[in-house]
Amino acid sequence: MTSSRKTKAALQAAPDLHAQLGLRPGQSIELLKELHILTRDGRLNQDSRRKLKQVNHLLQFIEKVRQELPPREGGLLLADHGAGKSYLGFMLYDLWRTRHEPGRELGHLYGIETRADVVTALHACDTATDDAIAFALRKQARAIVLAPCCQAEVAARLRMNKALQLARTPLAELWRHPLHTREMGSQLTNVLRCLYLESQGYAVTVTELVGWEHSMKNELIIAMWTGHKKRSAAERLQALLAQFGLEALLAERFPALRV
Ligand SMILES: C[S@@+](CC[C@H](N)C(=O)[O-])C[C@H]1O[C@@H](n2cnc3c(N)ncnc32)[C@H](O)[C@@H]1O
Repeated sequence: MTSSRKTKAALQAAPDLHAQLGLRPGQSIELLKELHILTRDGRLNQDSRRKLKQVNHLLQFIEKVRQELPPREGGLLLADHGAGKSYLGFMLYDLWRTRHEPGRELGHLYGIETRADVVTALHACDTATDDAIAFALRKQARAIVLAPCCQAEVAARLRMNKALQLARTPLAELWRHPLHTREMGSQLTNVLRCLYLESQGYAVTVTELVGWEHSMKNELIIAMWTGHKKRSAAERLQALLAQFGLEALLAERFPALRV
């Protein structure tokens, strides 16, 4: 085939590839190849299919958040914590580029943590999600979008605290088996994070990132700044820490609540 024929054939094939891969119109296939999400001939393996689904879903949530935020001179600033290979950042840049209206900056992405309107963390390991929250609070981020990963810290403490008063109640059944300890630790971690965000002036929504077949770490926490700091959330958080013998976490993970 001549090169002009090849280009024509590639252009004709492109819309199909977008549909097959569930990409939005205009999304750069070349970028996905450079990121090694797609192979050179435009195919996906099972792992990259999952990653692409996760990132594309998170992008949609971030895009919705962006539209809800009032415009900001110079565009929006977004920090991605625990960025790994920066798939999210590159694909967000691509999204903002394709939505770009002349004369209006949609946003900037910074690899270095300096400023931020939106803080996101996709599967940032264990307490790295808490670091992202701490960063977002320091920067007074207007929105925080988190898909937490392996929340091991609380589970480890639950294991140590099996002799607590609570452990003598039927509720202790919720984390008697090691697998349940891990799940319960993970659930409790995210509940505490949500209460913390509410106590610091955010309205919190918890939803699913993507279908369960595409990620086992599927919880998505979206926090939008309202400025209304809920005292009741701070009280419930502290009560939960006390019930589960987790008071030691207060200083490190929830410093804004210390009196
Ligand atoms: C599971 S990967 C996710 C990467 C990327 N967000 C994605 O979804 O493709 C977790 C990332 O968090 C980073 N990480 C782990 N602990 C961290 C910490 N304490 N602070 C910042 N990043 C951390 C790791 O280096 C890794 O890049």
